[in-house]
Amino acid sequence: MQYSILTTRFVLLVALENVSDPGMSAALELISEPLVVTALGAVALTTAYMMSQSTKGRQVPPVDLKKQSIELPGDEHIHVSPLMKDGKYMEYRYEDVRTVYDSFMHGLKVNEDADCMGQCTDKGVDWMSFKEVYESAQRLGSGLVAKGLEPGKEALVGIYAQNRLQWGLIETSCLIYSLVSVPLYDTLGPDICTFIINQEVTQEVKDKAKETEVEIILLTDLEELGRENLLDPVPPKPEDLYTICYTSGTTGSPKGAMISHGNIIASSGGVQMMSEQPSMKFRPGITILSYLPLAHLYERLNEILVTMHGGRIAYYRGDVKLIMEDLQNVQPMGFPSVPRLLNRVYDKVMQGVNSSNWIKRKMFFYALSSKKADLDRGIIRNDTIWDKLAFKRIQTLMGGQIEIMFSGAAPLSPETMTFLRCAVGCPVLEGYGQTESGVISTLTLPGDHTAGHVGPPLPCNAIKLVDVPEMEYLAKDQKGEICFKGPNVFKGYWKDPEKTKEAVDEDGWLHSGDIGEWLPNGTLKIIDRRKHIFKLAQGEYLAPEKIENIYLQSLFIEQAWVHGESLQSFAVAVVVPDREFLEPWAKKQQITGDFKALCKHKKIKEAILKDLSEKGKKAGLKSFEQAKDITVFNEPFSVENGLMTPTFKIKRPALKKKFQTEIQNMYAAATQNKI
Ligand SMILES: *[C@@H]1O[C@H](CO)[C@@H](O)[C@H](O)[C@H]1NC(C)=O
Ligand SMILES: *[C@@H]1O[C@H](CO)[C@@H](O)[C@H](O)[C@H]1NC(C)=O
Ligand SMILES: *[C@@H]1O[C@H](CO)[C@@H](O)[C@H](O)[C@H]1NC(C)=O
Repeated sequence: MQYSILTTRFVLLVALENVSDPGMSAALELISEPLVVTALGAVALTTAYMMSQSTKGRQVPPVDLKKQSIELPGDEHIHVSPLMKDGKYMEYRYEDVRTVYDSFMHGLKVNEDADCMGQCTDKGVDWMSFKEVYESAQRLGSGLVAKGLEPGKEALVGIYAQNRLQWGLIETSCLIYSLVSVPLYDTLGPDICTFIINQEVTQEVKDKAKETEVEIILLTDLEELGRENLLDPVPPKPEDLYTICYTSGTTGSPKGAMISHGNIIASSGGVQMMSEQPSMKFRPGITILSYLPLAHLYERLNEILVTMHGGRIAYYRGDVKLIMEDLQNVQPMGFPSVPRLLNRVYDKVMQGVNSSNWIKRKMFFYALSSKKADLDRGIIRNDTIWDKLAFKRIQTLMGGQIEIMFSGAAPLSPETMTFLRCAVGCPVLEGYGQTESGVISTLTLPGDHTAGHVGPPLPCNAIKLVDVPEMEYLAKDQKGEICFKGPNVFKGYWKDPEKTKEAVDEDGWLHSGDIGEWLPNGTLKIIDRRKHIFKLAQGEYLAPEKIENIYLQSLFIEQAWVHGESLQSFAVAVVVPDREFLEPWAKKQQITGDFKALCKHKKIKEAILKDLSEKGKKAGLKSFEQAKDITVFNEPFSVENGLMTPTFKIKRPALKKKFQTEIQNMYAAATQNKI
């Protein structure tokens, strides 16, 4: 139902090639080559000592590091940034940049002939200037309008492609005519991403497209159509919808987060205000490589910040194995990334170091500890003797021009964080937020070189922690579920008022599902995730994950799903037996039949239930937490049968739907047994 957007009002634009997994880790194979460490002897050491005494590279925090957020009076314990002016949320950074369209025009005004977007190729980067991008986007946008999309009427433009120049062009065309971009990506599954089209669109595909009311047109044809029907811009307003970002959570079908122009302008302004330094400013010519999936808001925010200031974006070649080469060609100054990639950089370098001889190893660790000592004094730089001796290679591999790195999307380990700050010799800032909060709500400050927290709130939003009594997290202890409020908080889920209501409460607080803790200096630390909790009829809470983990200790079973209902006073479960254990066991008990038959067998069910209860009892489960009845299912929960997420977490709502009848039967049977 969510995908009714795939109708005539919806033009599905497709890259001219297959879309493949944008996983980028393979790119890092290159880093595993042993590190080249040159020993220069005593002279070097003396120089190093002298240089480490200088204060060059000292970071200037925008606020007092001992008081990074302010707690407002009242019992809600609301925290805000000291950078907020007159107690008001920051909505934008520049008076004339209130929408993403304004942001592009702001960059264009700096110098319309400067590079804006480029495509990495085998030979280097093919750049387009701001003016060229604008003109091409105007033609494409006019083409979309000629195809029947109405400017300013929340007409949706789906983009199903890896990062590439055309992505940026289409996005810009949407800005010029107040159209709404909707990135689609592979993990959304075949239902949504209906077509993957190659350069030669066959008649068969076209016919099929007609049947499903999807129209197919090549980008070149679209641009030509627009050239013949060129229109004046219809710029969006701040409250207009900028994009719908689908997020695939563990709970049910993907939700389309509606992000307004105002939302993303607020969060981008907040990032800028917190991260700029005398040594690092967003400015004309600043360059990034676009390789993080554009389907996520994170990368789009990065690109907005860069173009807004007249900087440029180079789209990678779409091949993870070529990222290192692309980096050499692009020589980015900013490097937004994700822990998955950064941890791999760290591991690869460490592997290389460990496998080199002891002199090099010793030198490397000595270099690292020297840089660490600098870090502790608030200094980050890339021109010490240690950078030349030990870290030149990693810096060169990243293009040799890095000034700042960002990490987001998941927690970055403190070791990796510290390593990067030392080895790359630039500030590494970590952000935290979610798509629904304009993708970022907190950011670590330059100058705070400690690790293990996600920084204070951005000036565009307030954060409070609310009680989660069933997990014993209380706001009065500075712990609880993290909630956001401010102009960066989204407009709700597309066509899903119910899910919107679950996410945003009546007072406008977005509930994140993450558990946080305020550290004494006003930074936020993520400490847990709010679990799926059921409240049973007698008012007791049930945490199914906890129970499942205990049951999974049973040799009988491979998978378990525990369920509770508010009208019932106990739990029930569906389990998938471990075939390799069950079959020989059944044979010994002289129970015959194939696996399917075994799963249906009463004796087997009883044996499993008995074993689970024992395991539960031993682990201290209370009686109401124990599954009173189970269903033995003969097919593993998997991504294919829709019972697991692509990240291998079980999908509770899907399971609930699938086993509706079984749940009813189990409750009926268990209740009867009791009487
Ligand atoms: C490298 O060596 C260090 C310390 O000797 C060790 O902690 C680390 O696990 C090793 N890493 C790899 C990737 O081998
Ligand atoms: C070192 O840092 C400076 C200032 O941030 C930057 O301009 C330069 O490109 C960096 N050099 C390398 C090798 O990363
Ligand atoms: C902030 O507080 C945490 C926890 O007390 C501490 O680990 C960290 O070093 C502090 N950061 C700064 C910059 O003082």
